Amino acid sequence: MEEFTMTEQKVVLTGDRPTGQLHIGHYVGSLKNRVALQNTGDYKTFIMIADMQALTDNARDPEKIRHSLTQVALDYLAVGIDPAKSTIFVQSQIPALSELTQHYMNLVSVARLERNPTVKTEIKQKSFGQSVPAGFFTYPVSQAADITAFKANTVPVGDDQEPMLEQTREIVRSFNNIYKQDILVEPEGYFPPKGQGRIPGLDGNAKMSKSLNNAIYLADDADTIQKKVMSMYTDPQHIKIEDPGHIEGNTVFTYLDIFDDDKAKVQELKDQYQAGGLGDVKIKRYLNEVLQATLKPIRERREQYAADMDGVYKILKDGSDAANEVANQTLKEVRDAIGINYFD
Ligand code: TRP
Repeated sequence: MEEFTMTEQKVVLTGDRPTGQLHIGHYVGSLKNRVALQNTGDYKTFIMIADMQALTDNARDPEKIRHSLTQVALDYLAVGIDPAKSTIFVQSQIPALSELTQHYMNLVSVARLERNPTVKTEIKQKSFGQSVPAGFFTYPVSQAADITAFKANTVPVGDDQEPMLEQTREIVRSFNNIYKQDILVEPEGYFPPKGQGRIPGLDGNAKMSKSLNNAIYLADDADTIQKKVMSMYTDPQHIKIEDPGHIEGNTVFTYLDIFDDDKAKVQELKDQYQAGGLGDVKIKRYLNEVLQATLKPIRERREQYAADMDGVYKILKDGSDAANEVANQTLKEVRDAIGINYFD
């Protein structure tokens, strides 16, 4: 095989479904990584608000998606995704994505879609019964279109998205194999460091989510954060302050491990807690300080952007224009490869 000499451009693409505000689980699971990648300056970065994907199971509630779109845009800007460095855009404004999805649909079997573990779990959780929308069932194919339209090789996401990346790589290989072209690029996931990517809910539940009502949102004010922290799940056997406490499965310590950079201090607290003599209120107060310090600059930046929503819409519009140019070019290459360019 001939050497491919052109240096491959590094491209990041990722996104979120706008079904509500983003919380600190999203922050540690993926937002933090995106900002870090963006700030290396080594990547062309595309961040997409996946409203089409959100509609696959919310077709009857478009107002929720419309509202959440602005919330997610604000959350992005708040954590430091910078429109001067990253292209922030809206999925539904990029028609090429829908056509690419249609072409890829022919390369994927129903049986393969049925095996996607993340979709399987979601179908169970959402209790669709026999009425899983076809659009929801096939959203991994649309996600492959999102990624490949931008020829992204790096996709910063939470661990639950690995099956989507695997499916995308399969589609890319089939396409390149059938049409004998090297148009599409196989992406890799970019995941948080082990043990840092997933934070439990305030109640100790493995997942932080809006539906479980156990989340701290990036937009929460200082009082709300404090109340939530003081209500957190700790060690149910730690009743009296003198009792030795457990740190495994103790949500306060899990959060401290993730959010507190002062590892020596966290270790000291853990030792004291396990020996007995350190109360839950004390460790919660300390965690509250740590979280407030992390979230204050994020909240303040969010408020600044929220004061100028026209400016936010302009960012999304400009980003969508730029994204259309890239996606249309890929679509043209795909159409040429398939041979449906009859009138050129
Ligand atoms: N499935 C992702 C989520 O649940 C959202 C998403 C849509 C996405 N398209 C994408 C993520 C492309 C990465 C790449 O949040």
